[in-house]
This record gives sequence, C-alpha cells and structure tokens, in this order.
Amino acid sequence: MITPEQIQSNWDKFLGFIDTYISGERGEKLKQFYLRHEERFVMMPASHKSQYHNCFPGGYIDHVNRVVEAALKIDAVWREFEMVDTYTTEELVFSALNHDLGKFGDEQNASYIEQTDQWRRDKLNETYMFNDRLEYMTVPDRGLYLLMTNGIEYTKNEFLAIRTHDGLYEEANKAYLMGFTPETKPRTSIMFVVHQADLLAARVEFEKEWLPKLLGEKKVEEKKQTNNFKLNKNNSAVKQKALKTMVNPALAELMKNI
Ligand SMILES: [Fe+2]
Repeated sequence: MITPEQIQSNWDKFLGFIDTYISGERGEKLKQFYLRHEERFVMMPASHKSQYHNCFPGGYIDHVNRVVEAALKIDAVWREFEMVDTYTTEELVFSALNHDLGKFGDEQNASYIEQTDQWRRDKLNETYMFNDRLEYMTVPDRGLYLLMTNGIEYTKNEFLAIRTHDGLYEEANKAYLMGFTPETKPRTSIMFVVHQADLLAARVEFEKEWLPKLLGEKKVEEKKQTNNFKLNKNNSAVKQKALKTMVNPALAELMKNI
C-alpha cells in the first residue's frame, strides 16, 4: 500500500515524464488523454489480484513510473555495452509510459472493479475483479487501440515495444522475439530494454509485498544482516590485499585506520 501523499507525488512525476520526454503536439495530446481520466488513472491498481504486483489503489502509476526509471537506466547499460543506436529516448519513455495502458479498460469501463464476492475477497485476497463488460483484448492490444482512437500516433519502435513488453512470458511474442535467422530477428533492442524494465519493476514490487510474508519478517532482516556481514568481510579482505601492495609505509598505516 502507498500513502495518499505518495499517490499524489507519483501522479505529478508521471505527468512530469510526459512534459520532459514526449515532444510537441503528441506530448500535449497524451497529457490531455491522461488528465481527462485522471481520477481513474490515479487510483488504478497495477493488477487485480494481490498475488500479482502492486494490487492496491495507486499501484498502476507507481508501477509505470518505476518502469520508466528502470528503462532509462537499463538503456544506459545497453549503450555502455555498445548496443547499436536504433531508437530515441522519447520512443523509450513513450513505450514505458504506455506499456500497460491496456489495463485501463475503455473510456466507459474500468478493467478492474471492486470485487463483489465476499468469499473471494476473504479467501482469495481478491480486492478487485475483472470487469466483464469489457470484451476480451490483450493488454498490449487494448493499449495500442486506446492510443490510436485518441489520435496519439506511435512509431514502429513504440508499437513493437508495447506489443512485446511481456517478452517470452507471452507465447504470442515468440514470432517477434525468437527469430532464428538474422533477417527475422528484431532490428531494434528497444523491445528488450522495455521488457527488462517491466520485469525488474514487477519483480521488486512482488518482493516488497510477498518476501516478508513468505520468509517471515525476521528472516528477511537476518538475510539483510548476513549480506551486510559478507560485504564488510569482503571489504576488509580487499583492504588487506590493497595494504600489502602499498609501497609507502606511511600511507599504508593511514589506510589501516580507515
Ligand atoms: Fe508492467
């Protein structure tokens, strides 16, 4: 769960990403679309079952912001490893911002509505349920459809990144991601960067919610302490090694006490 203040600051951050990265008339259209549905977006969960990730009011925007931030950092790592430059930062942020847009539902109907079955709430921890007024569409397809019907254009890179953001967790993405010849492999890595950012965000959201319950708060705390201990131990081993290689005895003496 997050506080009302966090929900508000997440929303401001989300709009800030649009202002900063999405240029021109398209940026304005995108912002107007989100502002038109502000109340729904601000309160949306990222999923409808607590077994999944960020299933609480404000969970959706919290998740999307994390994906944008992770995508920018993961992009920097890929560039450091000499990824060929095939997409722009605007395309990356646009894809991250809208990768899960299909979870919104349509203009009239939210995808996730309050669970009305008390038994399912109590026994299955389901706070929300899927709104069956919506006809079936996959999340990426509904998201792309929403952008299209709101006059918000997207590039081929953005289409591919949104369409395949679930990576190989989605069987239907195999055709895009598992080309066995150079000609059929993706010609851009934006799809992998967005997928990795989404994977990372959903995983840490799961860990925050579930690891304390599964391991017990105490065990998580113990694990943290063990890791700290290992780190300190490693640091001290590295320090001893470094000290031995120092030729200046005065400097070595100084280092010993740090
Ligand atoms: Fe996501």
